[in-house]
Amino acid sequence: MSFRSLEGLEPGVLRLLNQQLIPAQKTYIDCTDYQAVAAVIREMVVRGAPAIGDAAAYGMALAARASTAATPETVRTELAVADGVLRTSRPTAVNLFWALDRVAGVINDSAHATVEALKAAVLSEAHAIAADDARVCKQIGLNGLELVPDQATIIHHCNTGSLATQDYGTALGIIRTAHEHGKRVYVLVEETRPRLQGARLTAWELHEQGIPYQIIVDGASGHFMRLHGVDLCVVGADRIAANGDTANKVGTYNLAIVAHAHGMPFYVAAPLSTIDLDTPSGDEIEIEERPSVEITHIEGVPVVPQAAPAGNPAFDVTPAKYITAIITEKGIVYPPYTKTLRQLFNAAETS
Ligand code: MRU
Repeated sequence: MSFRSLEGLEPGVLRLLNQQLIPAQKTYIDCTDYQAVAAVIREMVVRGAPAIGDAAAYGMALAARASTAATPETVRTELAVADGVLRTSRPTAVNLFWALDRVAGVINDSAHATVEALKAAVLSEAHAIAADDARVCKQIGLNGLELVPDQATIIHHCNTGSLATQDYGTALGIIRTAHEHGKRVYVLVEETRPRLQGARLTAWELHEQGIPYQIIVDGASGHFMRLHGVDLCVVGADRIAANGDTANKVGTYNLAIVAHAHGMPFYVAAPLSTIDLDTPSGDEIEIEERPSVEITHIEGVPVVPQAAPAGNPAFDVTPAKYITAIITEKGIVYPPYTKTLRQLFNAAETS
């Protein structure tokens, strides 16, 4: 790809492609402190579960770098404040908390006995989280290959590609890998109201990669399944509960039900960092509610009656029973997810 969604530059800059402006403009925003990182996550300059985690980790590295404290203990106290602020930026994608927990593990490691060693360790962990994201996504793409037949028509929701991760992406990474392996794929891109991650971002990425696609409105999936020979759906995830219930961009649940009604495979692609075994089911996943202006206005122009109320959950939960398989970097798992997800983690720990 001709861009990176996110780059941890030295000294002291996190550079982000401004996803609010794609495809009209390809501009970058430089964050130099953790407060700015929390703000760009909240405002969705950077978005997509893995990219949010990567950005938060770099936010911690910026906080560490900015510290003028004389002792590691005082740096740790300051970093706890930054950690708290970054944790409030968006609630649903567990990758945010996973990445911050990973950085916290380094911060609390007493082996980093000097201020400089501690600062270096935090930056190095942020780099490692971003590098792992790129490596893991590439493997998800390879693992998903066997589920994509040649000449497949695929429905995809939201954006799960290079913009949402480092390089390959998850669900879109599978589509890209299939294309690169010579499979002829055709993508029906759900536009993804209200922020149009499908129409703006996924269409842009597919265009850059030369993968044929067509944008459809979210409500058209049933029509295309009934009349136009869709082969499979593949989506990403923001948090997968221990029983397989999956929170993803609002509209995913509807798509899963329509796929189920047509006997069509419905796949979720995600790294292990998106699977939250501490959350028993989708009922316990916090769903972010975003400002209603995202629905009531388009490009700043009101499109509904004045003062019309609008509800804007950013995500929904697809019950595990509608998910054919979950594709991860450690392999593909099938129901019953309560058992197979646990087995996946156990195998990952011993490998
Ligand atoms: O609100 P967003 O754009 O951050 O939501 C993104 C999604 O729902 C993606 O499908 C998910 O984060 C997976 S990205 C690999």
